[in-house]
Amino acid sequence: MLEGKRIVLGVTGGIAAYKAVDVCRRLVDAGAHVVPIMTAGAEHFMGRTTLSALASEPVQTELWDNPTTPIPHTQIGQGADLILVAPATARLIAAYRMGLSTDLLTNTLIATRAPVVVCPAMHTEMWEHPSVVDNIDTLRERGVHIVGPAVGHLAGGDVGAGRLADPEAIVSAVVDILGPHDMAGVSVVVSAGGTREPIDAVRVIANRSSGKQGYAVAAEGVARGAAVTLVSTVSLPTPAGVQLVQVETAAEMQAAMNQAAGDHDVVVMAAAVADFRPVDPPAGKMKKRDGVPEIVLEPTPDILAQLGATKRSGQLLVGFAAETADLRANAAKKLTAKSLDLIVANDVSAASVGFAHDTNAVTLLRPDAEPVEIDLANKRDVARAIIDTIVAIRTRH
Ligand code: CTP
Repeated sequence: MLEGKRIVLGVTGGIAAYKAVDVCRRLVDAGAHVVPIMTAGAEHFMGRTTLSALASEPVQTELWDNPTTPIPHTQIGQGADLILVAPATARLIAAYRMGLSTDLLTNTLIATRAPVVVCPAMHTEMWEHPSVVDNIDTLRERGVHIVGPAVGHLAGGDVGAGRLADPEAIVSAVVDILGPHDMAGVSVVVSAGGTREPIDAVRVIANRSSGKQGYAVAAEGVARGAAVTLVSTVSLPTPAGVQLVQVETAAEMQAAMNQAAGDHDVVVMAAAVADFRPVDPPAGKMKKRDGVPEIVLEPTPDILAQLGATKRSGQLLVGFAAETADLRANAAKKLTAKSLDLIVANDVSAASVGFAHDTNAVTLLRPDAEPVEIDLANKRDVARAIIDTIVAIRTRH
């Protein structure tokens, strides 16, 4: 994912400095060349040896008398594809905002034209101080990417906002910035979540879909340059840059998907649409005193099958198949019956797979290619494989 990319990893003096080691390892695993810089403050929290051992070159700290180059402050920044500061203290953030180039890291930040990612970590009181808020706002306006902080346990037993973002989230933000933009100019609509069909004014027929896989496809699409619309029944955080359309029932989802399908190049039906809904649900609440109700169901429209029947030439249609048995055979039938270009099949009865989990294991089936197995991975990695396949199909057209 990050092969050939040169990333400067700046570590400043916060208790979360030890987590920079994990960030570093993940960047190197993703193929990046990591150039580590530690501030004097960072050295109070950890020694150089671990980071030097895990990074692609030894830690640098010195602006003066640097053994590798007489002008490290410009050379490191100029050669970087991205500069990542994790953790970033209030002091570093203030110095960067002011252009106060007092040490190797602040010099490098000011001397670079590469994208910069800053991951703040500090106590809640500091994070919420007007000076820090103002500095962060200014950096954001200048195009600096701010990742986190997260809410959680802080040093000294406190709990609140200020915790360093998860190393996984930090690396994923870096990949979003540096990764391929092979979906630029492509519009994608993704449906996500389970539909909820009213029984009466307060009760619904629902399913266990969390929407996480659909959201991951939307996030991956937008990270790779696509214009993404997300038609969702759930309220997960909307990935930045994604256009959200909130729906609840199969009928609402059908209306939203039909409308969107008219002008989107790629349609991904990741939602778990109810197959049946109660006929004529009453407007009010059914009362217990009226006895056990008899709920008569009717089929919902098959949104995907209809999208397949009306597919525009060149439009690419992706479906999902939630199966508990005969995965490949059942998914292959849906692929043909619904005129799909790709179906993502998962065995929702397997451990850690499908509904509600953060991980998934899927089989990708196409009409004219060998099936591809994606072993258990987090849903963002599965989304990456789905978008890779979409890119491959579009390139072949
Ligand atoms: N789908 C849809 N509208 C429906 C039912 C399903 O658009 N009323 C879509 C889903 O979003 C998914 C695909 O069809 O992309 C397959 O859904 P799935 O639930 O696996 O299969 P069904 O076609 O509903 O068949 P079955 O429930 O019998 O497996």
